Amino acid sequence: MKISIFGMGYVGSVTAACLLKEGHSIVAVEIVEDKVDKLRRGEWPIFEKGLDDLVPREIIVKDLKVETDAMEAVLKTEISIICVGTPNLPDGNVDITYVSKTVEEINRALVRKKADHMILIRSTVPPGTTESILSPILHRDIGKDKGLTVGFYPEFLREGSAIKDFFEPSLNVLGCDRDFPIEVVNKLLPDGIKDVRMTSIKTAESIKYANNSFHALKIAFANELASICSQYGVNMEETMDIFCQDTTLNISPYYLRPGFAFGGSCLPKEIRGIISMAKDKKVESALFEGILKSNDNMVERFVSFVYRMNPSSIGYFGITFKPETDDIRESPVLRAIEVLLSKSTSYSKVIDQIVFDNDKAISKVRGKFGDGFRIADTPEELLLSSDVIVLGPHRIDRAVESKIISCGKPVIDLKWHRVGENLSRYPNYHSFH
Ligand SMILES: NC(=O)c1ccc[n+]([C@@H]2O[C@H](COP(=O)([O-])OP(=O)(O)OC[C@H]3O[C@@H](n4cnc5c(N)ncnc54)[C@H](O)[C@@H]3O)[C@@H](O)[C@H]2O)c1
Repeated sequence: MKISIFGMGYVGSVTAACLLKEGHSIVAVEIVEDKVDKLRRGEWPIFEKGLDDLVPREIIVKDLKVETDAMEAVLKTEISIICVGTPNLPDGNVDITYVSKTVEEINRALVRKKADHMILIRSTVPPGTTESILSPILHRDIGKDKGLTVGFYPEFLREGSAIKDFFEPSLNVLGCDRDFPIEVVNKLLPDGIKDVRMTSIKTAESIKYANNSFHALKIAFANELASICSQYGVNMEETMDIFCQDTTLNISPYYLRPGFAFGGSCLPKEIRGIISMAKDKKVESALFEGILKSNDNMVERFVSFVYRMNPSSIGYFGITFKPETDDIRESPVLRAIEVLLSKSTSYSKVIDQIVFDNDKAISKVRGKFGDGFRIADTPEELLLSSDVIVLGPHRIDRAVESKIISCGKPVIDLKWHRVGENLSRYPNYHSFH
């Protein structure tokens, strides 16, 4: 295929070299003079393991066309891959100037181009950027019948093993519209990795942030835990080796579904324990302190959510700290009830709170919370007496789901359980995330 690649930094150079190696015809577009000179001499402008040996220099000189602007690159190719930088601005915002300028230039060329063209954006951008900013620029002054397709194709390569990652990507995701010609992208990929996971453009944009923030979190977690535990004479390499052997709860999708705050008798207690161990040894534990803060924020977020709805009463399905138990220790729902009660004065509005749960859980709270909340004996009673219904840890069945829909009241789903399609499509359904 004939492919133009914009931005000859780490991502662009590796992509160009690998696609050249695969036999595609490549036009590299770069604006920095020194990089352009190097490319024209058959040298890659960056150092990356194995890159200099991937394609012989004479082949690069002969087969890699180098341009300094978009016009020829777009006119002479079928696909443009955008790999320009998206650094942080001094205030931390993502600077999309390079990518916006690139699509402006590409648009000028597209206006003149008669044949179809495909754009794959690989630069990392905040969710929504492609649809709200980049795609409208690309489509400007272009007739509706012009075959222009735009996809967001996140890049997951790691510097140092970028060539291996290109040929064996850990994840292959494409954000695009339904009618996107996926077969074109398949032609780009090396044999054996044709299984591209297609999703919406926004989801594809967000995955890059999910991946990298999770990687950063894992590193910070291992480092901070080691800084604390090594003060207690623990061999943390051994601890983490054993930790990683649990692929059911530790290294797994478990605990990675967005929902409400954690609670119970273990997680909050153990984190407070780690923080106090750190304090005793004068070690900073910003991450562990941040975990508790982040968890408290979920409760605060819920309370604001409720106040925005301005109900007179609110009913909770479940008060335990998680489903299928009667354990109410450090239950985040009970914490939310408490916070709502304490805020009632400052918001000068007392919200009547009603709860329903399994008998054993209810027996633990009956009579102990004074006027804090009332207890409903049946789901129906809860629905009848509440303006807003909260789906908490107590699992409701399809019959109760139907009753919620027919009573027409707003629902906040704290996402402990997957609700049925009818309820998730119900206009008054509000997902906590
Ligand atoms: N480096 C990585 O490991 C990595 C991995 C995955 C994704 N990403 C993302 O990919 C993008 C590129 O990253 P990078 O590390 O290769 O960046 P980089 O800064 O090394 O390279 C970007 C290149 O784009 C060039 N450029 C800027 N404007 C241009 C224009 N209008 N036309 C042509 N070229 C232009 C720059 O001169 C530079 O050479 C970023 O959004 C980054 O977040 C990077």
